[in-house]
Amino acid sequence: MNTDELRTRFLEYLAENRFTQEPQGLYDPINYILKIGGKRMRPVMLLLACRMFKDDIEDALPAAFAVEVFHNFTLLHDDIMDDAPLRRGKATVHEKYDINTAILSGDVMMIYAYEYLAKSPSHLIPQLLNILNRVAIGVCEGQQYDINFETAENVELAEYMHMIEYKTAVLLAGAMEMGARIGGADESDAQHVYNFGRDIGIAFQLQDDILDTFGDPAKFGKKVGGDIAQNKKTFLTIKTLELADTTDAETLHQLMQTIPNDEAAKIQKVKDLYQKYNIRSIAEKEMNTYLEKALRHLDAVTVTDNRKTEIRELARYLISREV
Ligand code: IPE
Ligand code: IPE
Ligand code: MG
Ligand code: MG
Ligand code: MG
Repeated sequence: MNTDELRTRFLEYLAENRFTQEPQGLYDPINYILKIGGKRMRPVMLLLACRMFKDDIEDALPAAFAVEVFHNFTLLHDDIMDDAPLRRGKATVHEKYDINTAILSGDVMMIYAYEYLAKSPSHLIPQLLNILNRVAIGVCEGQQYDINFETAENVELAEYMHMIEYKTAVLLAGAMEMGARIGGADESDAQHVYNFGRDIGIAFQLQDDILDTFGDPAKFGKKVGGDIAQNKKTFLTIKTLELADTTDAETLHQLMQTIPNDEAAKIQKVKDLYQKYNIRSIAEKEMNTYLEKALRHLDAVTVTDNRKTEIRELARYLISREV
């Protein structure tokens, strides 16, 4: 099975596991968010990690589904927290339904994630549960830092890197480690796979931050400029503050402390400052550094090289994507 076939198999599993229970008010939003698309990067990476060690990936499907449901739960809550109107080119759940719905549907999705994870091969369940627990706690910690930084006076680059490792990278890392363990990886290989997922996850969030400002609104599927509007302290903001002259730094500092009436004007001004200091290409360079770090961890995994080809290709795609 190549990557596309794995994705197709995952989508079949997803379709077979629609949420048909009552009450509809709780479950319709879950079917909605799971159906409107997404790259399915975490489940596909989980299946690819499993397939590095073992040809048959059927045992890994419940964990892949668990991880996708968990990811989508975090999106429901993240979109409330970020006041985001759009997700995958469609209305966010709290906009289409309401905030209470997005909270409660999100809560039950988290529980279902565990329920599906527990359908994994029984001897692996304690280990898989432990991975998901670590990751889930990490995501919450990362999300809290992200929120704290909206109103923080000063955010260091190292603090930002720590924040994105937690809010985003650990879930991809944990998903890949689960796949590797279901495939039968030993301790050392499982750790290399985790580290690969973490570093690719950091590169992935850097790309997400770049696209949030510079993406094509027709392709991105989320509101372009949303991070600037919400005063998110991203790599772009922090690096510009580091490189800018005193006047520009003060201007950016002021802009990123307020929620003005004219949001479009604020977004444009911040974007102009990023452009003046060539921040997009600096961010892309940083992203490539993490891609290379990730690939070195993949090199260290003790399976034949042809079993790594597709993970490598997917990793390269993830940082060149426009969606
Ligand atoms: C969005 O994740 C949240 C981030 C961690 C940036 P994705 O970009 O993987 O979202 P979908 O699932 O493909 O829509
Ligand atoms: C997402 O970070 C992290 C989680 C959902 C846990 P973002 O807030 O940047 O994700 P998007 O851009 O809304 O997808
Ligand atoms: Mg968000
Ligand atoms: Mg967020
Ligand atoms: Mg984002």
